[in-house]
Amino acid sequence: MIVLGLESSCDDTAAAVVRYLPDAKADVLSSVVVGQTDLHAAFGGVVPEIAARAHAEKLDLCVEEALKKAALTLADVDAIAVTAGPGLIGGVLSGVMCAKGLSAATGKPLYGVNHLGGHALTPRLTDNVSYPYLMLLVSGGHCQFLLVHGPDRFERLGGTIDDAPGEAFDKVARLIALPQPGGPAIERAALSGDPKRFALPRPLLDRPDCDMSFSGLKTAVLRARDKVIAEKGGLTTQDQSDLAAGFQAAVVDVLVEKTRRAMVLYMEHNPTAPALCVAGGVAANTAIRQGLETVSDDQKARFIAPPLALCTDNAAMIAFAAAEQSSLREPDDLTLSARPRWPLDISQPSMLGSGKKGAKA
Ligand code: KG4
Ligand code: ZN
Repeated sequence: MIVLGLESSCDDTAAAVVRYLPDAKADVLSSVVVGQTDLHAAFGGVVPEIAARAHAEKLDLCVEEALKKAALTLADVDAIAVTAGPGLIGGVLSGVMCAKGLSAATGKPLYGVNHLGGHALTPRLTDNVSYPYLMLLVSGGHCQFLLVHGPDRFERLGGTIDDAPGEAFDKVARLIALPQPGGPAIERAALSGDPKRFALPRPLLDRPDCDMSFSGLKTAVLRARDKVIAEKGGLTTQDQSDLAAGFQAAVVDVLVEKTRRAMVLYMEHNPTAPALCVAGGVAANTAIRQGLETVSDDQKARFIAPPLALCTDNAAMIAFAAAEQSSLREPDDLTLSARPRWPLDISQPSMLGSGKKGAKA
């Protein structure tokens, strides 16, 4: 089965072609990702309207490029997959409309895919991991533990009740005058910092569950920063490094301890080949990876962090998820709608509040 995937839920426009072989490792024939960092740089965050317009302009070019790189034409494709949510509605709509057009024009089946499901199934694409496995999704927009039982069966064990870790890295970088994206900048600064100089909190570790919180930690960094500025009139490079190191150490401690708890719940399912998987941009952080590896080692589980290009937003994961789910579900039709909110595990109460449109991811 050859699937063309589209992704446009945040600030990356992506198209990919994946060849799916049941019971064998899938092949990514091409994966094209066009970022929009420059377009949003002046605004200090992603502007939804600008993102949607850029997706609408770039999607068909990405599709052409992905087919060209795979040395295929649309006629060779067996199905069209597209992120149908959760995400910024204008961007998701751009992708869904483009995919509907391709499906209507070619008669190929259309599959709307949950973006988080795409991330969560990536270890199957890259490492053929067997079900059930434990997944920690940590990025600029997501933070949750998922027990992945099957292609369409996700159990959420916990997640952030406020900011995602990447968001916290970015905000803290801004607070201490480091460049964006904040994650890599903080990781670099932390190398020459003293993580113990500032006493920063480890939020929610007093609670026995797998939920996390990063917003109070960010405020604690702000207070520590203000105290230094009040005393010295400004921040030295060493102050920046110490604040970065202290913040990163707190994030590592929280993620490691909560992963330890999630791992215990996971092991109760007696997996035959236990695996702890991680995805999302924050998974690039070496200190975080090392911390998580100690948890998987303790439980004699494999630690799997897919290569960064498949860990961050891409369309190969969307194409793969559709293929993986195709034997369990019918294709969508042209009534497929774009969903700004779409929790993977609907049995759980929503984490980030629920508005009129239903539970958020
Ligand atoms: O998955 P991703 O590329 O995209 C979205 O979530 O949209 O994640 C981006 C996030 C940013 O917040 C960035 O600061 C963070 O991942 N990040 C890192 C590192 N590299 C990227 N955070 C910590 N350490 C890193 N080395
Ligand atoms: Zn994502």
